[in-house]
Formats: sequence, structure tokens, C-alpha cells
Amino acid sequence: MTTRRSSASDRTDEALDLLTNVVLFRNMPRRMLLELAQKLRPVQYRAHTDIFHEGDEGATLYIILKGAVKIFIPSLDGREVVLAVHRKYDLLGEMSLLDDEPRSASATTIENTEAVSLSRHDFLAVLDRHPEAQRAIIDVLVARLRATNQSIQDAYLLDVPGRLARRLLAIANEHGEATEDGVDIGLRVSQQELANMIGASRVAVNKQLQQWRKQRIVDVNRQRVTIVNRSALEREYSLSP
Ligand code: CMP
Repeated sequence: MTTRRSSASDRTDEALDLLTNVVLFRNMPRRMLLELAQKLRPVQYRAHTDIFHEGDEGATLYIILKGAVKIFIPSLDGREVVLAVHRKYDLLGEMSLLDDEPRSASATTIENTEAVSLSRHDFLAVLDRHPEAQRAIIDVLVARLRATNQSIQDAYLLDVPGRLARRLLAIANEHGEATEDGVDIGLRVSQQELANMIGASRVAVNKQLQQWRKQRIVDVNRQRVTIVNRSALEREYSLSP
């Protein structure tokens, strides 16, 4: 009996811990968090599963708990522009809930992913009742606009090695793990996906990675990229025209 009660309370504590790590719910009183926890629906996706498509009607917000989700705009000829990769505690699908327009981009998992979803009605109720949450959403949108501005600047001002170096370092800064050989960038992405992130061809990305491999700047093993010589990679984008 005692054990059961404590495991239920452990689960509640776990749910609350999880919510307090999500920027949207930070500083929210415990009472509201408990109420909210009841409204979240757990969802699970295998790697390479579509969550929604650009142009769909948006009815749900997702909060990622585990895994990685690629946000991209597909083109008619099968190519795609990768706008971002969202991971643990990131929000997904807030834009169409806020402006009532269709989904602005498509979302596909690149790893097995666990998330919780919140309906439009419950999401908007949180924003109405909690000014801190409005502020948090503004922070999320501004951070995404800054990252997008940076990508536009890179696309105009850097060459392929510069854009690739910058992107690998940015991924590693966010998700990297130190290993014996250097810093594993922490995200399993194909060379095609890396190419789609920087607006280059897969062939150009492959050629560059092989060159850096020979120079012991990076190591590439299937979808695992390790930064072996960070300062050399930093030089690649600072020297980029
Ligand atoms: P929504 O438009 O509902 O569906 C696509 C989602 O992708 C969008 O909400 C955001 O959550 C996310 N998204 C769209 N554009 C970007 C971007 N430039 N950077 C990061 N995330 C984005």
C-alpha cells in the first residue's frame, strides 16, 4: 500500500520535473502544473515517421521528451530545406496554433521520439491564464528568428566548407558529447540531411567531410560525426569568403 502511494507520487514528481524544464511552463505555480499534466497526451514515434506536413491544419502542440525531430520544407522535386532540428523539451507546432494558419513546415522524426501533445484549446488557455507563458513563447519565437537570421547570413556570406563547419560546431555546441577522439556532435544525421541544412549538395558535403577526415579535422563513421580538431574547424568558417 505504502509502496503504491509512493510510486504514484514519484510519477507525479517526475511529470512536474518534466514540465518545469519546458520553457513555456517555467515559473508556473505547482497547482497549475498539476492541472496541466492531466491534459498532456503521451505520443511515441519511430525514427523517420512524419508527425505532420506543411499545409496541414494545426490542432496540436508537441513537447519533445526524447529523440529528435527535423523541421523542413519539402520542394516539388523531392529536395528539402531543413529549418531546424528540435530535441528534448523543445516545442513543436506552436505557430499554427497561434496564428490559425496551416502548418508552416513539415515535421519528421530522425530518431525514435517520445513527446507529449497539448490541444490548441488547452495551449491557448495556458497563454490566456499565465502571462509568464506568453513571455516564454515570445522568447522561443525570437530565438528561432535569430537562428533563422544566422542561417540566411551564412547562406549569403559563407561558402560550403564555411557553412558546414559552422553547422557542425552549432550542433556540437547544443548536443555534443566529449569522447576519447574528440566531440561527437550528438545528432545522427545523414550527409543528405546535413546538405539540406546548409543548402548544398550531398556530393559537396561528402567531399568536404572526406577532406577534413584526411586532415584529421573530423572523423566520420556512418551517421556519426566527431569533431577531432575544433580550432581547425573554427578556422574553416572564419576564413570562409
Ligand atoms: P507550425 O507552423 O504549427 O508547424 C511547423 C512547426 O515547425 C512550427 O509550427 C514550428 O514549431 C516549427 N518551425 C517552423 N519554422 C521554424 C524555424 N525557422 N525554426 C525552428 N522551428 C520552426
